[in-house]
Amino acid sequence: MRLRVEGKGKGALLKNSAWVLMAALLGVALIASASPQQEEGRKSPLPWAYVVDARPPASSSTPDRSDTSLKRVAGSSLSFTLAQVHDGFGPADWHPGDHGPMPDIVARGKKPDVLACALCHYANGKGRPPNAPLAGLPVAYFIQQMMDYKKGYRKSAEPRKPNTEKMIAFAKAMTDEEIRASAEYFGSIPYSPWIRVVETRNVPKTRIARGMYVKLEGRETEPIGNRIIEVPDNAEATALHDDHSGFTAYVPIGSIKKGEALVTTNGGGKTIQCGYCHGDNLEGLGDTPPLAGRSPSYIARQIYDFQSGARSGFSTLTVTMIQSIDKLTPEDIVAVAAYIASRPVPASTKAAPRNPSK
Ligand code: HEC
Ligand code: HEC
Repeated sequence: MRLRVEGKGKGALLKNSAWVLMAALLGVALIASASPQQEEGRKSPLPWAYVVDARPPASSSTPDRSDTSLKRVAGSSLSFTLAQVHDGFGPADWHPGDHGPMPDIVARGKKPDVLACALCHYANGKGRPPNAPLAGLPVAYFIQQMMDYKKGYRKSAEPRKPNTEKMIAFAKAMTDEEIRASAEYFGSIPYSPWIRVVETRNVPKTRIARGMYVKLEGRETEPIGNRIIEVPDNAEATALHDDHSGFTAYVPIGSIKKGEALVTTNGGGKTIQCGYCHGDNLEGLGDTPPLAGRSPSYIARQIYDFQSGARSGFSTLTVTMIQSIDKLTPEDIVAVAAYIASRPVPASTKAAPRNPSK
């Protein structure tokens, strides 16, 4: 903002100075309220976390409808066609012995507006990097998130990420009973190790399929830069939604140690120690969600969604939560997410499986 001060004589100058001062204060207030993110529109500085970089999606990202052969995955005696695997109102459940009876909304969704939770989050709630791990979340936290989606307090900072919009639409179409049943089902499943974190200078070259990075054939690599690249360990199994087939997250050299300082100390005034609320081992505390061993792309997206205001909340804890991550730079977010994902899943998140129908 530029101001021209014109005036004759001392009185006018004084009067003008008062205006200048007021305008300057107003300017400061304006600058303080308009964050750089707002000025940039809703584009995030972490395109890798939202998997929205410039690469064209692979043609194989939509299932081949002409393939009606029966598919199998390791460790399951079942077989399904691709159409069954991708059936939004009853997707394949490869390992039914792993979990208790699924509520209808989880296994089959609700036609026409709500797709089965198991389609994206998997029957065991471990999830894929573009959605979210639901296993072991506190029931009250889970319900709160569904309400936040409904009321518009939780969106994606990245308008090019389409599946968060879908999630919002599902929440809006669900009844309180359906929300509670899904929260109790996923909350009762213990979260167990799912992501291997590897520090590296160079990552395998990847393509994008179904909102995920997938390794290209061959051994070509590229510099990792300030990114985390999370890929299926077995792309074929993940394409078949095998919920026994996990992920590897490549993170920059030194990021885990840097993240440890930001998470476990106050990072020289930058953060509030995460363990205060998330538990010493980031296993979750009360209704505050567990973080340890969970998808670093998911964690990073949430941190930036909080920073940008796309995800908000009014509880004192959530407001303090936002303060505790607000000063993190994109480099810090990589480090924090790498450290959190590398933490062992503590035994205390392994809640005893509970029959959700009881
Ligand atoms: C089309 C895929 C898809 C389906 C189906 C789906 N979700 Fe989601 N879900 C998402 C995405 C995407 C996110 C958010 C990811 C993000 O914000 O980065 C999400 C996030 C969530 C979260 C927040 C988790 C957290 O840690 O805060 C909850 C809770 C949730 N979903 C519940 C459900 C329930 C219950 C169902 C079934 C009725 C369901 N979802 C079906 C894609 C899906
Ligand atoms: C004052 C307590 C507090 C502190 C300190 C805190 N958090 Fe949180 N955190 C919360 C609460 C409460 C939520 C749930 C917010 C909501 O209502 O959406 C949360 C949510 C999150 C989520 C989203 C989890 C999910 O499943 O979507 C991430 C990621 C997160 N915190 C990371 C951190 C990191 C990293 C730190 C430390 C730098 C930290 N938090 C410090 C209270 C805290």
